[in-house]
Amino acid sequence: MNLELATSDGVSPVTRTTGADSPLAIRGLTVSYGQKPAVFSVDMTVKPGAMTAIIGPNGAGKSTLLKASLGILKPLAGTVSVYGAPLARQRHRIAYVPQRASVDWDFPTRVIDVVLMGLYGELGLLGRVKARHRAKAEDCLRRVGMEDFAQRQIGQLSGGQQQRVFLARALAQDAELYLLDEPFAGVDAATEKAIITVLKQLRNMGRTVVAVHHDLSTVTDYFDHVFLINNRKIAEGPVKEAFTADTLQAAYGGRLADAQMDALRLP
Ligand SMILES: Nc1ncnc2c1ncn2[C@@H]1O[C@H](COP(=O)(O)OP(=O)(O)OP(=O)(O)O)[C@@H](O)[C@H]1O
Ligand SMILES: [Mg+2]
Repeated sequence: MNLELATSDGVSPVTRTTGADSPLAIRGLTVSYGQKPAVFSVDMTVKPGAMTAIIGPNGAGKSTLLKASLGILKPLAGTVSVYGAPLARQRHRIAYVPQRASVDWDFPTRVIDVVLMGLYGELGLLGRVKARHRAKAEDCLRRVGMEDFAQRQIGQLSGGQQQRVFLARALAQDAELYLLDEPFAGVDAATEKAIITVLKQLRNMGRTVVAVHHDLSTVTDYFDHVFLINNRKIAEGPVKEAFTADTLQAAYGGRLADAQMDALRLP
C-alpha cells in the first residue's frame, strides 16, 4: 500500500517514494502570512512520472504550498528538496503555471514572446532568439492549439486561451517537474481536453505533473495520485486509496454536500 494518512503511525510502506528520489519532497513546511499559518507542518513526497492532484477547499493553502515549493514564498519552517537536492540548485528542472487570476496582462506582450520566455534558461538572459528557438516556441503553441495566435497581444486573448499559452510556455521550458495551479479553472470543455491531453503526454514521457484541482468529478479520470490538504495535510497516495469519502470529509468538513459525495461513487 502506498497510502499515507496524516494520522498514520509512521510505518513506511515498502513502495513509498523516498525523499531522495522524489521530484519534490517537502518536510515540516509551515508558511504564514500573519499570525495563523496558511500551511502547517506539511510533508509531501511527489511520485515521479505520475500526475498528482492537490485538492482542498478555498483557502486550504494549495497555492501557498506550490509557491513555497518554488521558493516564491519563504517558509517559517521546513525544507523543500527537488530530485534530492536543495531547491536553489534545481529551479531549472521545474516549470510553473500560476493560478490565472494572479497574472496581470496589462503589459503589452505578444503570445510568441510569452512562450519564448520559457526558453530563457536555454537562451541566457541576453541571448539572441534564433530561428530554432522561434520554431520550438511555435511548436509548443501548436501542441496547445494556439499556433494561429502567435502575433496576438496576450491581453487580447480570452482566459482559456491565455491558459493554453501559459501551458505552451511551460512546455518550452522542457522541465521534468510541472507545477500547475488550477489549470482547468474557467476553461471550456475543448480547452480542458486539450490541456489534459498535453499533461498526460508529459506524464507518458516520464515527466512529473502536480496540479491544484477543484473538480472532484474528474480526479479519478485525470490523476494517479492525490494530496489532500486543509492547512494541514489530510492524506496522500494513489487515487484509489487516498481519495475516499473519509479523506474528502476530513478535507472539506460539512462543505461537501451528501449529493456530491454520492455522485463521486467513492469507496
Ligand atoms: N498574500 C497574502 N497575504 C495574506 N494572506 C494570504 C495571502 N495569500 C493567501 N493568503 C491566505 O492564506 C490562506 C491560503 O491561501 P491560498 O491562496 O494558499 O489558498 P488556496 O488553497 O490556493 O485557495 P483557492 O482554492 O481559493 O485558490 C488563505 O486563508 C488566504 O486568505
Ligand atoms: Mg489557490
